[in-house]
Amino acid sequence: MNYTLHLADVYQLLAWFQTYQRDLPWRHTKNPYHIWISEIMLQQTRVEAVKQRYIEFIDALPTIQDLAQVDDEKLMKLWEGMGYYSRARNLKKCAQVLVEQYHATMPRDIEALRSLPGIGPYTAGAIAAQAFGIPTPAVDGNVLRVLCRYWGIEDDTRDPKTGKKLYDALMAFYQTNQDTALDVSSFTQALMELGALVCAPDKAPSCATCPLQDHCFAYMHACQDRIPYRSKLKNRAIEEYTVFVLEINGQLVLEKRPSSGLLAGLYTFPMLKGQLSVEQIHSYLASALRIEHAKITLIGPAKHVFTHKEWHMVGYHIQTTTTPDLKDTQLLTRNLELYAIPSAHAVYKTFANALVLANTAD
Ligand code: ADE
Repeated sequence: MNYTLHLADVYQLLAWFQTYQRDLPWRHTKNPYHIWISEIMLQQTRVEAVKQRYIEFIDALPTIQDLAQVDDEKLMKLWEGMGYYSRARNLKKCAQVLVEQYHATMPRDIEALRSLPGIGPYTAGAIAAQAFGIPTPAVDGNVLRVLCRYWGIEDDTRDPKTGKKLYDALMAFYQTNQDTALDVSSFTQALMELGALVCAPDKAPSCATCPLQDHCFAYMHACQDRIPYRSKLKNRAIEEYTVFVLEINGQLVLEKRPSSGLLAGLYTFPMLKGQLSVEQIHSYLASALRIEHAKITLIGPAKHVFTHKEWHMVGYHIQTTTTPDLKDTQLLTRNLELYAIPSAHAVYKTFANALVLANTAD
């Protein structure tokens, strides 16, 4: 299928953008590092919230070199409240690669950008187009909505193939119009801005003022409420657990699950509903198992997705020399391989097996 983006519509879009675009701080720069920071912030956080945070971040860390050397405390403080803290850690990791491999600059090359840690096709396209004017599509949620409506694409936008289809169509547009002195940076942002300000989700688009209305399929067929189509995520129940790799004089506690229900009859590490604090773990150990003294160390989180539910777990390593009051369903072992342990606990099993090996080596 050939998707045509009419040049006349593109010019109307650019004229609309010149007049109606919001004044956003990252629109006053061509610095690829600054644009990168803005794009990562904008991935999970609202534009209004990002504005101030972006300015503070760039003030504190104006260069790639600064980001590569920032101490983690300061980095986390700069990211405080924006969530998804791994994004910030990935930024620093990427900045270190840029220092080592690219003389602390962002490469002016789409493939090189894409190969950097934490930079996927969308971010690479957004940087290449906005900072370097390289004609590369950047298809985010707003652009998906605008172009699916314009071309009448009813595919599921949750399916990555839909994004790829739009990417290819935009790439074809760039190729067809190579000789046109198109402002790639403005065009990229104009598509995003149209999605944010005019081509709004659901039944609320302001088609009367839209610069793309002359050839917009959804407008002409009055099906803006049907396009874009986004399949519903099956919502699984989320259950939180605290998991104990409980080590008593080199032996480990396993617990047999009830004979019916999920993972019936399999063995897991003892677990309690909820994410417990260390204090709560101490009181559980004392009241349920008569363990008064124990060393508690965080192992880490793990997630397991079942068909209808998800377990979100946090594991702790508990070391004690007290022989506990075990429940009937609990046992002590040195050999986990004797028991069927579901893959939901695979991470903790690997951890526990390493302990067994370490104890044997002693
Ligand atoms: N969302 C993602 N990138 C954006 C940008 N550059 N401006 C506004 N919103 C955005």
